[in-house]
Amino acid sequence: MNRKVTVIGSGNVGATAARSIADKELADVILLDILEGVPQGKGLDMLEACPIEGSDSRVLGTNDYADTAGSDIVVITAGLARKPGMSRDDLLLKNCDIIRSVTEQVVRYSPHCIIIPVTNPLDAMAQVVYRVSGFPRERVVGMAGVLDSSRMRAFIAMELKVSVENTHAFVLGGHGDTMVPLPRYSTVAGIPITELMDKATIDRLVARTANGGAEIVKLLGTGSAYYAPGSATVEMVEAILKDKKKILPCSVFLQGEYGIHDLFVGVPVELGARGVEQIVEIKLTDEEAAAIRKSAAAVKELVDVVKV
Ligand code: NAD
Ligand code: LAC
Repeated sequence: MNRKVTVIGSGNVGATAARSIADKELADVILLDILEGVPQGKGLDMLEACPIEGSDSRVLGTNDYADTAGSDIVVITAGLARKPGMSRDDLLLKNCDIIRSVTEQVVRYSPHCIIIPVTNPLDAMAQVVYRVSGFPRERVVGMAGVLDSSRMRAFIAMELKVSVENTHAFVLGGHGDTMVPLPRYSTVAGIPITELMDKATIDRLVARTANGGAEIVKLLGTGSAYYAPGSATVEMVEAILKDKKKILPCSVFLQGEYGIHDLFVGVPVELGARGVEQIVEIKLTDEEAAAIRKSAAAVKELVDVVKV
């Protein structure tokens, strides 16, 4: 294939995203990890599924960044999970070190790529990628809002017993407890859910959305979600590779938009071949705008710890 996507981190999210990119025949896929054998094994396993899937994508697992050279898109899922005794800040600093070293290698071998950071805490890690890469802001676009919005869409569809295809949702802000699901901009067949459900129901769906990651963590017992995160990442990859100009909520470096300066925060953007082709500013009520600023302040606290 003439397109190349690298996925750094062959764990749950990385492998799920890589498999889907190959199944959909979007590009050749390089799966890289520091673990020896694991990316090679998973990559070969995916390659061996391609004849059945009818895909001519070539998948290669590796530990060598030279194999990633000339990638169009690099997805970064490398990171550590929180271990007992580790504080939130310990994890933040450890993942920051990983993201720094990964980004340096990515830029060395694929200076023209678009980077999609996925590692948590997402918005702060995207800011590390942006600063270390030196890329223009159009080429660093964090994945979180597509996942959070997909969760909200699933909950809306279940509640109203309608097709998920009829649903649209916008969840903006940082990817954390302060994320901002926007019921006024969440619709079923174009009708805002504020006209279809009472406030108590909407509040319940909003709370479940904001708690969506924790709900899966609690059920799994070990590790966090990866099927929906993998799908969300691939929706972004596809929008870029196919130059779809698709409007999706993504974490991007804001320079005054939504009254936020020099921070990665989730807002609607148009994704196309050049990466972030436009930041879409939707009209917010005072309350909605205040919620996004509060969420941005939570991102700023993390960014101040990692000093980027
Ligand atoms: P995982 O533990 O299954 O996989 C992480 C992989 O990263 C491991 O295979 C590990 O060996 C690898 N790794 C560690 N250091 C590396 C390095 N320096 N270079 C290359 N690879 C390295 O975790 P996961 O479930 O796949 O999640 C990955 C990350 O994505 C986590 O930070 C998680 O919190 C985050 N996540 C974010 C979202 C989101 O919405 N943004 C959603 C789900 C998961
Ligand atoms: C989630 C976490 C892992 O939302 O970011 O599932």
